[in-house]
Order: sequence, then structure tokens, then C-alpha cells
Amino acid sequence: MLSAEEQIKKLTDELNQHNYNYYMLDNPVISDFEFDKLLRELMNLEKTYPEYVQPDSPTQRVGGTITKHFASVKHIYPMLSLGNTYSEAELVEFDSRIKELITESVEYVCELKYDGLAISVVYENGVMVRAVTRGDGVHGDDVTANVKTIHSVPLRLKGDFPPLFEIRGEIILPHDRFEILNREREDIGEPPFANPRNAASGSLKLQESAEVARRGLDCRLYYVLGENLPYTTHYESIQKLKEWGFRVPDVMQKVSNIQQVIDFMHVWDKERKKLNYDIDGIVIKVNSFAQQQQLGRTAKNPRWAIAYKFKAEKVATKLLSVDYQVGRTGIVTPVANLQPVALAGTIVKRATLHNADVMHALDLHQNDYLFVEKGGEIIPKIVGVDLAKREAAAQPVAFISHCPECGAELKKNEEEAGTFCPNDTHCNPQIKGKLEHFISRKAMNIDSLGEGKVEILFDNHLVKNIADFYQLTAQNLLGIEKKIPADGNKPERVISFREKTVENILTGIQQSLKVPFERVLFALGIRYVGETTAKKLAKHFQNIDALASATKEELMEVEDVGDRVADSIIDFFNETDNLETVVRLRQSGLQLASLSFDNQLLSNILQGKSIVVSGVFSVSRDEIKNQIELHGGKTVSSISKNTSFVLAGDNMGPEKKKKADSLHIPIISETELNAMLK
Ligand code: IVH
Repeated sequence: MLSAEEQIKKLTDELNQHNYNYYMLDNPVISDFEFDKLLRELMNLEKTYPEYVQPDSPTQRVGGTITKHFASVKHIYPMLSLGNTYSEAELVEFDSRIKELITESVEYVCELKYDGLAISVVYENGVMVRAVTRGDGVHGDDVTANVKTIHSVPLRLKGDFPPLFEIRGEIILPHDRFEILNREREDIGEPPFANPRNAASGSLKLQESAEVARRGLDCRLYYVLGENLPYTTHYESIQKLKEWGFRVPDVMQKVSNIQQVIDFMHVWDKERKKLNYDIDGIVIKVNSFAQQQQLGRTAKNPRWAIAYKFKAEKVATKLLSVDYQVGRTGIVTPVANLQPVALAGTIVKRATLHNADVMHALDLHQNDYLFVEKGGEIIPKIVGVDLAKREAAAQPVAFISHCPECGAELKKNEEEAGTFCPNDTHCNPQIKGKLEHFISRKAMNIDSLGEGKVEILFDNHLVKNIADFYQLTAQNLLGIEKKIPADGNKPERVISFREKTVENILTGIQQSLKVPFERVLFALGIRYVGETTAKKLAKHFQNIDALASATKEELMEVEDVGDRVADSIIDFFNETDNLETVVRLRQSGLQLASLSFDNQLLSNILQGKSIVVSGVFSVSRDEIKNQIELHGGKTVSSISKNTSFVLAGDNMGPEKKKKADSLHIPIISETELNAMLK
């Protein structure tokens, strides 16, 4: 029998290895379900025996700490930045400067220049002890708890690492995570981030590490500092970092002359468009440490490295007008209509001005000529105004004061850049937005109704409030249609709802009555109440009446709920329209109170079944696993004689197929699974 301390150590090591298999090797050996079980076991033990919590505990990956104030820490070695170059000629000059100081041959290492935030992490005896932002280069903020949630930064090292060293790298937010994050922000009425770098930097400064964990930050580590390090070149040091468990640059090339550097730069200026993260250039480093030392540094930069920044193509074009788009949550986005102009392979006619603050900073005037830039990113960016071309009598362009859709007076939150229309119950794009949000996957998940169908229902005056969905009948729906106007090539078309469609819609709506309270709460679309906050509110208040009658103080007792969220909840339940909606939803039979976990299952069709999921599906693998668990099943990662069946998508691994066949385990498709669950 192991002691509590031994048990904690064992679970810590085991879970860290599973994390490594999953995140670094991309090769999990246990299912998410089994992982969560072990993690919960460790969390419980840690709660009872906090004195035995290990410094590399994997529970830190999911966060939980709240940092009210980030302490300022002095860097052991100042964090220098690199000199920038923008042309091949300047690269050649860099090479010549080096050759003046070093007579023997010089080898360079080329890397990508990650467009994120610099971070410095200290390891003592193989355990991560501190992570600090760059700050002013001398002092930075201690963001250790937040960085511990990033899986590419190891908590404990493997192998023959030095006892004390510092490592530098870049924190980035991959494009797919950036898009998810911005969609979620738009869903709850928060202004989206302008680019992944801003999003990464905003995320790293969050006070709640659990939220940082959910954002999905990533990191590349590329520079070690310390005494008596066991290698002599930069390239070797990176190989070592990899062995110790760090995620190092994906692309690195050793080259022996500056022409090869230039070739590398040209390749990546093109290839970068295919990456899942932003890079803004390449970095060139002298490989030999002895040579690096010989070259030394200037006041600001090392002489042994330089950054080449990719050129963003830039043109000037005339501002024709500014449109204002009202989003699904009422956020108003100004969009510039431009004289069409060719830029980096496309014709640019419009570009977002993001928000009132950005628009004011540009100080736009009528008929201004604007500089438009396009780098690696897909969206063109307005970067400035050509003042020399401004007409003397041109008037400034003022942000509108009233909603272009409904005429309500617009509002702006002081601490946020977004201007919004507060008329959320009677402004058309917001009504449609609420309806679409209500049926969406993470909310009521009525997938027989997509955005297009909701629009048809809205245009036919059948649904203008979320409660109206539950009043729909086959009679209402049969035969309703939408005309799609003719465009250049296609004549006018008419889409109409036939029997099968109607039946699917009504079944989908009926099934949504089983959706648990926390998701119904999220589906209501209360401004600033995202999926996570809804979960916490549901857990705390248990039912909608308790929530609706809570005071501001009571609301703020819930983790995550600050002033702004509390006010928004109170405003929501002060609206008569909203109260009526809640009454109607209750009459229709929606879940407005929490049930115990067992009752949250959608069915027990898969009770006792262990299922191996392999291949690519029409929805994400997490979604598939979630579905299985909601129907009482369990997913496991490897096939054994205890496996009930294998769920095979496209490109199922051939090894898995062989094994399933040899053990006579049935293989079923996604369609067959869906049929079972219906
Ligand atoms: S090496 C002594 N390598 O670019 C400087 N930096 O201005 C060591 N960066 O502050 C930095 N990718 O934040 C290095 N592969 C890379 C990089 C990289 C991005 C950032 C880093 C640095 C800035 C240079």
C-alpha cells in the first residue's frame, strides 16, 4: 500500500508522461476519459494533502490560481532584442560586419521569427520555477502560473540538463485557437482581438490561470543562457533542449554562407502562409558560441544575430465611405469602402477599421488616401493616412451615434473598445444573432436548424424570439419558402421546406428539451455570459429563479463574475421581454434547473460500451467523444478484447483495422453511430 505522498508522486509522474505523449509526441496511450479520471484522483489527493503537492504537478496545467497583481522581477540576464533588417543588401552587410571581426569560416543557423511575446523561463534542478515577460528588458512581470498552463513548456525536464539555467522563447496563439477565441468573444458581445499576437498577450496577462489554460497558447523555445552549458554551438543546444522536453523551433537550417540565408528567407516568405501561426520574418544566428562571444553585443542588440522582417506590401488608396455593420451581439464595426486597388495578389475594396478607438487614432477625413498593408495575414490592414494628399476643406469622419439597423442610440463601455447597440430585443441583426446562438452546437445544439433555416423562419415571421421555436408546428413549417434572387449566372431559385425537413426540425427542437440547464443558460445569450461562466453560474445557483433574483453581491461571489458580468445579468432579468421569454421556455419544458450528473446523460444507449475512435469525422474528434459520453459510453484509445466496437472515420489507421479484424471487433461508421443514437 502506497503512502499518500508516494501516491501523489506516482500519479504526478504518470500524468506528466501522458501529457508528454499527447502534446509533444502526438501519440496518446490512454483515453481522455481515463486521463481525466487519474487527474481527478490526483486533485482530490492534493486537496487532502496539500503539503505533498509536487512542483511539477500536472494539475497546474488546468490552472486554478488567481493572480491579482503580477510581481515585477529583475531578469538574471537582460532581455535584448535583435537588430532588424528589411532587405537582402542589409543581410549582406550583416555578413560583412561579422567577417571583419572573424577570420575563420562562419556557420549560420536560420530560424523562423515567431510573432508572439518573448518569455524567459528559469529551471532549477530540472523543475520550472519562474516565467517572466520581457517587460522593459530589465524587469518583467512574473506570469509563472499562466505559463505553467502551456503544454509546450515542460514542468520537469528529462535527461542530463544543467542544474540551473534560463531559457528564452516566444509565446504564440495558433490560428485555429485564435479563431475559436474570437468567435467565442463575439458570441458573448466582447470585441474580437485584432490579431493572434494581441490575443496571446491579452491571454498571458489574465488573472485567472484556468482561463489561460482554455485559450490554447503554444510556445517555441530557442535560446538557453547559463554557466558551463554542455555544448558549443547554438544548433547543438537546440537538439539538447528537445531531448530535455522543450518544444523547439519547427524549422531550423544550418547554412554556410549568406546566399543560403537569402534562399531560406525567400522560401519562408512564401511558405509562411501555410503555417498555423504567424511569423513576421526569419532570425539568423551565428552558430558557434565561441564566435558569438567574440562578436559580443552593442548597447541594445547582440552582434551575432539579426532579424530579417518580411515586407508587408503597401499601397495608398482613396477612402470612399465608411459602413457600419451591426453584429449578432450588437457590436458595431466600422468598415472602410476603398477605391479598389491591387495588393499582394488580390483586389482590396474594403477593410475593417475595427472600432471607434482605431478609427479615431487614424483621424480619418473624407476622401483621405489611406495606406493599406498586407503581410502574411489574410486580412488587409489600414496602417495610416497620407496627410500630404488630404484636401484642405475635408471634414473629419465621425463615428455614428445611432444604430444603422434600428435607430437606437449607441453605447460604449469605457474599458472596452467596442461600441454597441443596446437594443438587443428589437434590433434585427441582434434578434437573428440570438436565434442563431440559441440553436448553436455548444448551446441547444439543434443541428437540424442551421443559420440559413433560422433566417427563413425569421423572414417568414415564424420565429422572432427563442421561445417561438417551441411553438412551431408541422402546419406552420410545411411549404414555407425563401427566394434566392438571380445572380449573373443563376436564375432565381426557391427553397421550400418539405416534409422530411420539417420532421427533422421538429425532432431536433424536441430533443433540445433534454439539454442541461448550464447550456440553456448559455443559450439565453446574456451579454458576457460565455460557456464557462454559464457553467459556474448554473453550479452556484442551481436554477434560473435563484439566478434571476440574485443581488449583485451574490452574483459576484461566483468565480469569474465581476462587475460587468453581474450588471449584465441584472439588466437581463430586469427586461420584461426576457422574463416573458423565460416563462414561455419553462412552459415548453426546457431544463431551467440543474440535475445530478447521471440525469444529464442524453440516453444510456451506449452504457457499458467501450469504444475506440479512429480516423477523421465530419465533426471534431472531441465532439464525437463528447457525444459518446453523453449517451453513457466510454472511449478508450487502444483496441483489446474488451472493446465493444471501433468507430471508424476516414483514414482509419491500417494497424487498428488489422487488430480489430483479428479480435473480431465490429467496426462501425459515423452514420451508423448517428443512427444508433437517434
Ligand atoms: S533569438 C538575444 N529567435 O524576436 C536575442 N528571437 O527582436 C535572442 N523572436 O526578442 C532572441 N522568434 O521575442 C530569437 N527564433 C527566434 C525568434 C525570436 C521570435 C523574437 C524575440 C526577440 C525578438 C527580436
